[in-house]
Amino acid sequence: MGAPISFFVTGTDTSVGKTHISSALLLAIRRRALKAYGYKPVASGCERRNDEWISDDAEKLRAYSTTPTPDLALMNPIALPESIAPHLAAAHAKREIELPPLLAAHQALSLGAHAIVVEGAGGWAIPYSDHLMQADLVRALKLPVILVVGIRLGCINHAILSEIAIRADKCVLIGWIANRIDPECLYPDEVVETVKDELDAPLLADCPFGANIDLAARKCAPALDALGLVRRG
Ligand SMILES: Nc1ncnc2c1ncn2[C@@H]1O[C@H](COP(=O)(O)OP(=O)(O)OP(=O)(O)O)[C@@H](O)[C@H]1O
Ligand SMILES: [Mg+2]
Repeated sequence: MGAPISFFVTGTDTSVGKTHISSALLLAIRRRALKAYGYKPVASGCERRNDEWISDDAEKLRAYSTTPTPDLALMNPIALPESIAPHLAAAHAKREIELPPLLAAHQALSLGAHAIVVEGAGGWAIPYSDHLMQADLVRALKLPVILVVGIRLGCINHAILSEIAIRADKCVLIGWIANRIDPECLYPDEVVETVKDELDAPLLADCPFGANIDLAARKCAPALDALGLVRRG
């Protein structure tokens, strides 16, 4: 098997549905008879269980990955206790986030996979340490980027700024996914249309409010075509 198609899922902010959409993409990929694994390089806000720090996001991604699934430690090499920005959580845990283990885990996951869905931490502009940004990992792995836009008040600004930042970091934004996370958002269709007009990257999928992973996977399936993930067999 050749190198998998691996891509990075970022969002306009924390809690905009990156895990939800990444899970849906994993399920959609598996429905095309392809082997897919989720990867959460860095997670904060983990829970202590049996002497290990466990990321809720990594567990969700594992639940939608091809079985048998890799060890959680491989799917999430940096699991930090406190629910704060990664570089702060690392400093508080007396750890440093460095590239080599993150690249090695991605490489190990890649063996035998057709696709790797990499979920970022927070939004785009996230420091890993004083001298490393999340974007450095994306660049090192040459990952195309999908931006999840959580449709709510303020998201137009966040979407435009995210696109500018992704391009300034010399990464490739292949498209964005509208995720309707807020039932109170007024005129969500007009907001989606505005983001569509403002961004240079295409709208790949539109996920309704309250969609479970099954429905979200069906809505997100067209995004796989943009990634070149075609059905096997
Ligand atoms: N389309 C949707 N409709 C309703 N609720 C949603 C939708 N998408 C996500 N959610 C909910 O919003 C919350 C945040 O979603 P999620 O955990 O996927 O965000 P995230 O961007 O991965 O957050 P984090 O920055 O912590 O990784 C979760 O409770 C999730 O179930
Ligand atoms: Mg998440």
